[in-house]
Amino acid sequence: MKTVTLINGDGIGPEITDAVVKIIKASGLEINWDLQTAGADVIEKEGTPLPDRVIESIKKNKVALKAPVTTPIGKGFRSVNVQLRKALDLYSNLRPCKNIGGINTRFSDVDLVIVRENTEDLYAGIERQVDENHAESIKIISREASLRIAEFAFDYAVKYNRKKVTAVTKANICKLTDGLFLECCREIKEKYPNIEYNEILVDNACMQLVQNPEKFDVMVLPNLYGDIVSDLCAGLIGGLGVAQGANIGKDYAVFEPVHGSAPDIKGQNKANPTALLLSAIEMLKYIDEVNYAEKIDKALRKTLKEGKILTPDLGGTASTTEFSDEIIKNL
Ligand code: NAI
Repeated sequence: MKTVTLINGDGIGPEITDAVVKIIKASGLEINWDLQTAGADVIEKEGTPLPDRVIESIKKNKVALKAPVTTPIGKGFRSVNVQLRKALDLYSNLRPCKNIGGINTRFSDVDLVIVRENTEDLYAGIERQVDENHAESIKIISREASLRIAEFAFDYAVKYNRKKVTAVTKANICKLTDGLFLECCREIKEKYPNIEYNEILVDNACMQLVQNPEKFDVMVLPNLYGDIVSDLCAGLIGGLGVAQGANIGKDYAVFEPVHGSAPDIKGQNKANPTALLLSAIEMLKYIDEVNYAEKIDKALRKTLKEGKILTPDLGGTASTTEFSDEIIKNL
């Protein structure tokens, strides 16, 4: 039996994690889940939102499925997500974004992939209070991180038969930092003559994405733009409830949805587990359980396509439990 670290998060995390674990079990696949709690709830007992045992578990098992963890706004502890990505050097945040049959959206031909650099940029949160009226944040972009994320994007394009990689920056303003990121993308593209390459500024990219999303294929972005554009793209395919993701490094992989802990619907049994389930399906493929991954994927897509039992974010009235029971019925 394979062992996978399971971080059930907080907010809606535990509800959607229970649903996903139940669906995987019902598929017939036995996974030994190494449950690791993290976030605000463990601080009191363990003095940190990300105890070492979580990192050690992932280092031992090499792979994790993770539900969202809340990060306090403005004050409080550092993001568990940022710390985790940094500690395990999960340098690539991969977020495929494709229309799913049965989910009505403004567009029907979205099929793009976001490759977000996951370790540096303003997202690293290196900040200081200069004086009472000034604060500053340091944007660090390195050649090493930019080269490897560009290489990841082009490798992905080749492996998955994609045609084009688009580098998204604000290099007209952040001439040195985003300029370096672009320089690295240009260097890497020379090694991939069969993949088309272009560049776009992030503001223009946002406009183009909401007008002509079908024009985009693989997009490679520094961390902060990648974070923001990911949510925009989630909106193109039905919202955060269906947007999957994965953090991938050289040695470890942590699969998690794009969305956060959704405190506004916490504990109401109405969160959509689809994004976590799609992330779990990719995790199963990663650990070579392709048959089970496909079986669950088929049942999920059937449920969405039938459209009888859907969670409120998709226009339905079903609870998380009813929706996951329907997937189990369709397995
Ligand atoms: P959010 O993604 O949690 O929620 C945004 C909106 O989408 C809310 O209206 C929410 O109800 C809805 N939503 C999200 N997931 C849904 C689902 N599965 N089913 C149905 N509706 C869903 O973003 P927000 O509110 O900005 O962040 C909440 C907390 O989550 C913050 O502390 C943030 O730092 C954290 N966060 C954690 C992430 C992670 O653990 N990887 C990623 C993003 C945010």
